[in-house]
Amino acid sequence: MESTQIASNGFISAAYVVAAVFFIFSLAGLSKQETAKRGNLFGMIGMAIALLTTIIDPRVSNVFVIIIAMVIGSGIGLKLANKVEMTQMPELVAILHSFVGLAAVLVGFNSFYDADHSLVLTATQQTAMNIHLTEIFLGIFIGAVTFTGSIVAFGKLSGMIDSSALMLPHRHKMNLAAGIFSFFLLLGFVNNGGASPALYIMTVVALVFGWHLVASIGGADMPVVVSMLNSYSGWAAAAAGFMLSNDLLIITGALVGSSGAILSYIMCKAMNRSFISVIAGGFGTEVVVDEDKDYGEHREVNAEGVADLLRGAKSVIIAPGYGMAVAQAQYPVYELTQQLINKGIKVRFAIHPVAGRLPGHMNVLLAEAKVPYDIVLGMEEINDDFSETDVVLVIGANDTVNPAANDDPNSPIAGMPVLEVWNAKEVVVFKRSMNTGYAGVQNPLFFKENSQMLFGDAKETTEQIFRAL
Ligand code: TAP
Repeated sequence: MESTQIASNGFISAAYVVAAVFFIFSLAGLSKQETAKRGNLFGMIGMAIALLTTIIDPRVSNVFVIIIAMVIGSGIGLKLANKVEMTQMPELVAILHSFVGLAAVLVGFNSFYDADHSLVLTATQQTAMNIHLTEIFLGIFIGAVTFTGSIVAFGKLSGMIDSSALMLPHRHKMNLAAGIFSFFLLLGFVNNGGASPALYIMTVVALVFGWHLVASIGGADMPVVVSMLNSYSGWAAAAAGFMLSNDLLIITGALVGSSGAILSYIMCKAMNRSFISVIAGGFGTEVVVDEDKDYGEHREVNAEGVADLLRGAKSVIIAPGYGMAVAQAQYPVYELTQQLINKGIKVRFAIHPVAGRLPGHMNVLLAEAKVPYDIVLGMEEINDDFSETDVVLVIGANDTVNPAANDDPNSPIAGMPVLEVWNAKEVVVFKRSMNTGYAGVQNPLFFKENSQMLFGDAKETTEQIFRAL
């Protein structure tokens, strides 16, 4: 090898290590609200180094085509980022995961067509070829599952597809059969030196498998699906890294894959779900929903009534949910909070781990509105304090404050830990109607004696309370 090429390879490897370190710092930064901005910045720097290094790599040809693709991609990305509302973020993330999956499938087929399968190989070369063929097969398999799974997740999160779980008969057996069949296809593919239709058959099986896997997970389990697909997209990228012999792609893919897996585990724990049962397509989620159940009467209150309640309160907890994001009510909520604090009332926020539609959704909104971090508490930190609280304002939350999770073993959300807001003296629920939340189950909280409904858009009703105070 020429000395200049060795030097350039050394430079590229060094630049990749620097980029990888930035990615690790980025993940560390993203783990806390206070350092999240810095984490994002590190991620951007790491990505810039990675892109530049890849482009100047002498092994890369067609730089012009890459630059055109980047300009088009950046243009679309900028436009989307400016247009997409915070509430549409999860579906955007889901569709972006599908691109990673599709890219892994395309890289896989490209590597497959690139290799010359007609050569007569020595034993060592044969072993290397078998490893390469396995990489191709696994890369395409993971990519195809991620691709269709993410499209279904996008459809469910955006409301284009019914969000409830698809319950086909024998669905677990079908999933298992798809896995075992794909394994035998892998053996056939590698044993025949890549000269068999196994790769094409597996691609079709994996596309259907990915679609079915996510279609059969529904309702309140969707947060786990989003983080699980995040993890799959990481492994798909790592597989592409192996096929392209790109170390940085392997490292980055592994970082995304493992952090997504850890997040899925944390979410499952927060929702008291078994990880295996969720990823196996809602195993054990057969529930009976009694739609005709009589919950009793609910009480209504207006903004003046809530202002009166707040005037007499010493401590207030605000439990925000998806409706606060829809209404963009975080700014008036912040102003109301300041007003109450100025009156000497103790105000805190109670954040459920899956409130909203993406991990940390409420924290991001409250940080955007400049709510101080020290009054924003996680469910475990605050759940015991509701009994000593005068007024709880449930602003656009529903499933995450549903007592049925504790009391009704037949409820689809049974066993999920929830914010026990009903233990407070008074509860005010801000929403527009008596409609159900994301999981599609009625909420007995609305009918409790100490609960009152404040109907209307959460932004408007919060502003009305602010004025009334
Ligand atoms: P949800 O159960 O989704 O309920 C939100 C409530 O907000 C609805 O009942 C809706 O009632 C109300 N709302 C909507 N727009 C409003 C507006 N403009 N003003 C006032 N209220 C409004 O909320 P949650 O408690 O945050 O629970 C989150 C759910 O989403 C969980 O089931 C969770 O599993 C699921 N999920 C979470 C994630 C992540 S990662 N966080 C991802 C996917 C799914 P009205 O229509 O009557 O107004």
